[in-house]
Amino acid sequence: MPRMYRESQFPLDEEHLSRQETLFHNANGYLGVRGTLEEGTCYKSMRGMYINGFHDIVPMKQAEKLCGLVEDKEAMLNAADTQTIMLRVDGELFSLFSGEVEDVERTLDMDEGITERDVTWRSPGGKRIRLVFRRMASFARPHIFVQECEITPLNFSGRLGIESWQKALVNNYADADDPRLGADAVCRLTPAGQAMAGDISLLSAQTLRTGLTVCTAVAHDLIASGAERWTYDEVAHSAVWRAEIPLSEGQTVRLIKYTAMTDSIRSAVPAEDALAELRAVRGRLPELRQAQRDYLARFWDRADLEILGCEADDTAMRFNMYQLLQSAGRDRYGAVAAKGLSGEGYEGHYFWDTEMYMFPFYLLTSPDIARSLLLYRYGILPAARENARRLGHRRGALYPWRTIAGRECSGYFPSGTAQYHISGDIAYAVTQYWLGTGDETFMREYGAEILLETARLWLDTGHWHGGRFMIHDVTGPDEYTCLVNNNYYTNACAQYNLRWAVRTAERLKTWDGYGAWAARLRVTDGELAEMIAAADGMYLPFDEALGINPQDDAFLQKPVWNLAETPRENFPLLLHYHPLHLYRYQVCKQADTVLAYYAFEGIATPEVMRRSYEYYERITTHDSSLSTCIFSIVASRLGMRKKAEHYFGDSLRADLADTHHNTRDGIHTANMGGNYMAAVNGFAGFRLSPDGLSMDPFLPARWSGFRFRFIWQDRRFEFEITSEFCVLTLLQGEPATVRIRGKEHRFRLPGDKVTVPMDGEDEHST
Ligand code: BGC
Repeated sequence: MPRMYRESQFPLDEEHLSRQETLFHNANGYLGVRGTLEEGTCYKSMRGMYINGFHDIVPMKQAEKLCGLVEDKEAMLNAADTQTIMLRVDGELFSLFSGEVEDVERTLDMDEGITERDVTWRSPGGKRIRLVFRRMASFARPHIFVQECEITPLNFSGRLGIESWQKALVNNYADADDPRLGADAVCRLTPAGQAMAGDISLLSAQTLRTGLTVCTAVAHDLIASGAERWTYDEVAHSAVWRAEIPLSEGQTVRLIKYTAMTDSIRSAVPAEDALAELRAVRGRLPELRQAQRDYLARFWDRADLEILGCEADDTAMRFNMYQLLQSAGRDRYGAVAAKGLSGEGYEGHYFWDTEMYMFPFYLLTSPDIARSLLLYRYGILPAARENARRLGHRRGALYPWRTIAGRECSGYFPSGTAQYHISGDIAYAVTQYWLGTGDETFMREYGAEILLETARLWLDTGHWHGGRFMIHDVTGPDEYTCLVNNNYYTNACAQYNLRWAVRTAERLKTWDGYGAWAARLRVTDGELAEMIAAADGMYLPFDEALGINPQDDAFLQKPVWNLAETPRENFPLLLHYHPLHLYRYQVCKQADTVLAYYAFEGIATPEVMRRSYEYYERITTHDSSLSTCIFSIVASRLGMRKKAEHYFGDSLRADLADTHHNTRDGIHTANMGGNYMAAVNGFAGFRLSPDGLSMDPFLPARWSGFRFRFIWQDRRFEFEITSEFCVLTLLQGEPATVRIRGKEHRFRLPGDKVTVPMDGEDEHST
């Protein structure tokens, strides 16, 4: 079955259209284009074209000038607008808001890698036309965005006028009332050059403070003859291409618009490169489309997750996976923003979302992307060291809570910078990468250093008290409880980080380069011993009376927020209550202690985890889309299958059903990664540990089966789960041992499969 997601474009209202701008965006990890209407809209719209990592520095006013508070932030810029195409049939301008729209449907084809909008329109003067718009952000040539437009007059012959725009000076979208969006709509680009190369128009613009250049080169292919010309407007620094052609009833006219985007972060000669990129693809749409198909065929072949017996879940899961593929940066300048490349929510910032929620997906399906994401973190390690010094630390690296190029961009430090766990989360992803790939070179050259520097941060942040190592005045993942002592998750994360830093350094001692590495980073055995002592002495809060892990030292002393009597319209709470008010109650925005149970297996007994789970379940609002997926995974692991399914169901369609009412600002990439994890790490019981790979699956009641492919240590596998058995097949790679439902199985040759009955008996291998 083709992997396809389809929606009608009706109703033509602002809410629906702006949501579709996000859902039908096109991206390829380098550039992203919102699914706005070529012809424009009568509503407010976020008409964005973005480049991963392309940003300017903008002021972030602090009301009080306290020492060390950041006063500038990086913001992803809307980089250009080359989407606009206006069409006139015999002088009547095509618009969904005039005449009559008879039919309009939007499709995302996840095998072809294109979006399509198919409209049948009757002009105010009675002329019927069918318009099919297709868009593609090329995976094979990441600088290329292509639009196709097919126009078929249905009841007339006449003339078609085309106006196709290229704007270099564009604004970002702003909403001063929503803390999750930028507040100022100022144009941060200035003209930096214009040229015509034959019929290719090239415009360059430069950012105000970072001095970065973005170039767009645009050209058209029109499969019909007519007068065509570009005009350039110097004041607006924009260009318009106009054409006028005849239309014959029933005959389709086809326009192809190519945009090449380049930037000076990656290129020394972005204008030349934009032209070269454009020339390389122009006139070759069939080849580009084939390359897109091939890229996706390879992706699905190694990564697909198929859900049997529930088409809606199957489509939603594929949609999530496709969005993750679209969103991930593939070089060290760009990672995965909280909204991917689909919108301006959170101003294009990268958070811990990448490492804790999306990383498992990339690791299992595209380890090269996982590696590149960690290389990005390695690249900003110097900035993280500097950030630690700003906060008064004498050693170690504190990764910024939100950033693009390494600068701390969170203005409100209690629920931003104070989330020190991000450094531990990045370290955690490094260990997962190691367990998932065994990439020794990466660990020597980059991974060990990240582990060491983040571990040092804990030594410098924490202190010994009463024989235990404590970490005070930090914020855990739950943003409704800030600046606390001994956040359970943070301490657990720090403990893991410290242990892995030492374990890795010890392992490197057999390597020839160890001496130079240790000298460069001034590693001593004394410091490693200090780390082990801190990890062993780490205080993990436990409440004897309730038999649970408190979220922090003071958490259980606070009154419990009355969720049952909170009006529905007051959610999410963060938009309706002062932060301090929230901090004084037991109320959680998202999984915190429960997240520790997922990430650090074995940290508590099943009884403690179950009691804690039920405790936090009662006081968690899931106002963050990062929450229910984790409640699902931990429920799976604790054998609470109904809950696991319930939370998964709640999480899976967060964007498709717009359950958080802000999909218009961009997709929730962490939620999408979390949904994949809920299926793989939750239902399939997939775990990576120093002991190897293990699986402990169950089948959700609403599915008849599911199967997925993944990569582990250079081997490709397929795992299939039905109600009667599960089957693991080694598709490619060296012999391996995998633990399934508690028992080890050996795979010797590609094609080897092990079938294990779901009741755990009578297994057999072939
Ligand atoms: C969540 C954070 C998350 C951020 C970006 C917030 O609502 O509380 O955990 O990192 O969104 O997705």
